[in-house]
Amino acid sequence: MTTTTSALAPSLDAGRTLPDSWYTDPPIYALEQSTIFRANWQYAGTTAGLDNSGDYVVVDAGPVPVLIVRDNDGQLRGFANVCVHRGSIIVHDRAGNRKSFQCGYHAWTYGLDGRLLAAPGSKNEPDFNPADINLIPVRMETWGPFLFVNPDQNRPDLHSVLGELPDLVSATGIDLSAVRARVRHTFEIRANWKIVVDNYLECYHCPTAHPAFCDVVDVRDYTVREYDLFSTQTAPARKHAGETAPEGIVTSGFYAYLWPNFTINIYPGPGNVSVNLFRPVAVDRTLAIFDYCFCDDVSDKDIDDFAAFVDQVQSEDTALCESVQIGLSAGVIGQGRLMFSQERAIRHFQHLVHKELSGSAP
Ligand code: FES
Ligand SMILES: [Fe+2]
Repeated sequence: MTTTTSALAPSLDAGRTLPDSWYTDPPIYALEQSTIFRANWQYAGTTAGLDNSGDYVVVDAGPVPVLIVRDNDGQLRGFANVCVHRGSIIVHDRAGNRKSFQCGYHAWTYGLDGRLLAAPGSKNEPDFNPADINLIPVRMETWGPFLFVNPDQNRPDLHSVLGELPDLVSATGIDLSAVRARVRHTFEIRANWKIVVDNYLECYHCPTAHPAFCDVVDVRDYTVREYDLFSTQTAPARKHAGETAPEGIVTSGFYAYLWPNFTINIYPGPGNVSVNLFRPVAVDRTLAIFDYCFCDDVSDKDIDDFAAFVDQVQSEDTALCESVQIGLSAGVIGQGRLMFSQERAIRHFQHLVHKELSGSAP
């Protein structure tokens, strides 16, 4: 590691950022994949389209390709989408419905519960017992309509990781069981995933970079709170002359970041929840996957307007993040310095990164 981990913790405490090399070095990226993204809960989409036996989706949990399927007993299950014969990917399309899953290499066939049903030629193998062979399970849990996966069998369950977050979301007036995903937009950002998370975690840049956002949310009255594995940012709706309250069931903005790469966002106005996954795809590339969810009474016009608004904010953030990636790649600042009154949640996040990479995560 470029900077020794023992030297780093006190400097993070003091408000210095992770070293610039942590955003650019391929070995750091590889370590993050094998630690952070192999061992933490990651958003995998919504339960829409997974109502019936045999419905499936294919997602990624960091480096682990995952198959999520509803089995014949109605239970959602997660498996590594990797054939245990010799390692081929089993399912290549993103979603659908099947009665079983057959690997395209040597035709081993698995049931919806992951058990091996058939392997050509297995009768000629005296010690081969299909009943002993299963796909590798991957943990899968839900929060409202949101699916999460975790390849690590030993980490705490999703709900203990979420802690108070579901209660804080409910307190905004949003009932997650009453929203459904209506729009998915995906953005490719030419920046390390931590730059994208850092950027999410502060609104210090909002007055400079997000005029439309500042017109909706009163960023002069911004509150940041840190919890174990998540942090929140809240602010009232911006009141304009002659207005008393925003139209809709939500009266203030609520933005929460959950370790390692998930956010849930609720804007003032009609019943809306947008969730973001910041998925690393290379040391200097991140896919930002946004699922926009709404209550059923929100009109198509309001949905279009909302998505256009968030897309605009994201395009502004994309330019900022890409600029930081270029600057950090120059390797001239070493560690940046945080403005604590506005950027404390970045320190919280960077401590979590540091803990996981130094082997001291729970
Ligand atoms: S690798 Fe899947 S059947 Fe051989
Ligand atoms: Fe922003």
